[in-house]
Amino acid sequence: MTVAPADLVTRFTPAEHRTLAQTKAGTPLGKALRHYWIPALLSEEIAEAPAPPVRVRLLGEDLVAFRGADGRVGLLAEHCVHRGASLWTGRVDATGIQCVYHGWTFDIDGNCVQNPTCPALRYDERVRQPSYPTAEVGGLIFAYLGEGDPPPLPDLGWLQVPDSARFVSKRYHPCHWLQALEADIDSAHVAYLHREDLVAAGTVHTQTMLDHTDPEFEIDTCPAGLTIAAIRRLPTGADYVRINHWLAPYYTVVPADNPEGLLGIHAWVPIDDESCWIYGLTWTVDGELTEEQRTRFRRGTAGIYAELVPGQYVARRNHTNDYEIDRQAQLLGIRWSGVAGNQEQDDIITASMGPAYDRSRERLVPTDAAVIATRRTLLAMAHDAETGVAPGAAGWPGLAGRGYDLPSVFIDVDHGADWRPVAAEAMQAKQVRAESTVPAGNES
Ligand code: FES
Ligand SMILES: [Fe+2]
Repeated sequence: MTVAPADLVTRFTPAEHRTLAQTKAGTPLGKALRHYWIPALLSEEIAEAPAPPVRVRLLGEDLVAFRGADGRVGLLAEHCVHRGASLWTGRVDATGIQCVYHGWTFDIDGNCVQNPTCPALRYDERVRQPSYPTAEVGGLIFAYLGEGDPPPLPDLGWLQVPDSARFVSKRYHPCHWLQALEADIDSAHVAYLHREDLVAAGTVHTQTMLDHTDPEFEIDTCPAGLTIAAIRRLPTGADYVRINHWLAPYYTVVPADNPEGLLGIHAWVPIDDESCWIYGLTWTVDGELTEEQRTRFRRGTAGIYAELVPGQYVARRNHTNDYEIDRQAQLLGIRWSGVAGNQEQDDIITASMGPAYDRSRERLVPTDAAVIATRRTLLAMAHDAETGVAPGAAGWPGLAGRGYDLPSVFIDVDHGADWRPVAAEAMQAKQVRAESTVPAGNES
């Protein structure tokens, strides 16, 4: 019997699990997350001006979003401050949204601009409807659910290119946001869950990924989060280094190479503590996306997109139909997981854990290093938020909105050589511009 070194297994405590699991207002991590802009909905959900309200649930908060006659977006608490009727039933008019129960009307800042049952309370702070700032860029509406002034928007490469060069879509996922996110920072699963993709590619690199199932991880902090390098030894003796990133708090840079030179990130947005939205953001720094590419994204046949149920933000292969797992394909090794689609393969796994798996039950090993590091960063932020340490003083990642345009790259370096300078050069070639600035968007 071989005895493994004691430090091969890492465990999180039940208390740490609880901290990571909770995102509602007032919880430690919930407080921390509210210091960042959060993707809230797609512009197409409220396309017209004016557009009737849609329900938006974020971080366990029930909200409604609507577009006023002037085109600006309002994001208000769902339940009317008067007696709790849902503003989803409301009418949007030139001044804002009117609760149809007694006619109180709120503008996009939550001011009660009309109060038929108590006119003296117009514009009174006591009857202000909770509202949140929004910023609309590139077909995506971000919201700020925190207190005080919002920080700058993150300088994602996706935010810096023209509309013709970017695409966004989303799908519902029935599990905790971090549970889902962790599949993207876990290079070790690729040799199994996505095995047929590596076999089909048939390159020396993909064969190395199939053969070398316990890559070494080196993880650095970067201005917006963590840079994660998974290192495998090539038959030539050189190191094959796959580099991706976790960008605080919601984003992972998708570690995918493709001949079209497309760049992509996922945003893992907590709806509540048991479900999330998976946003896929794709862009190119080299011209425009073609209509043919967009069609393939919409059909879920390319990029970081699943095939959706028409008219819904739900994958066609989903948890209600067991992702149409094909046991015969699994048995024959045609599809290792039995599930078609790279995205659906990740989805079935993270959903299979249940809505919020108890992280204190896991046995994490060295190839889970990026998962461990990301959780440790979030736990530190949650601790700061709970104990009143200022995020800026604590050096939380990404607060300045910088460092988000950080592409994933795959490089070969001499065995044991420092991959960082080579990676920096490769990443720079894929950045929108070296010193980036993000358009302010249409802040509402
Ligand atoms: S409950 Fe909304 S106006 Fe009365
Ligand atoms: Fe995956």
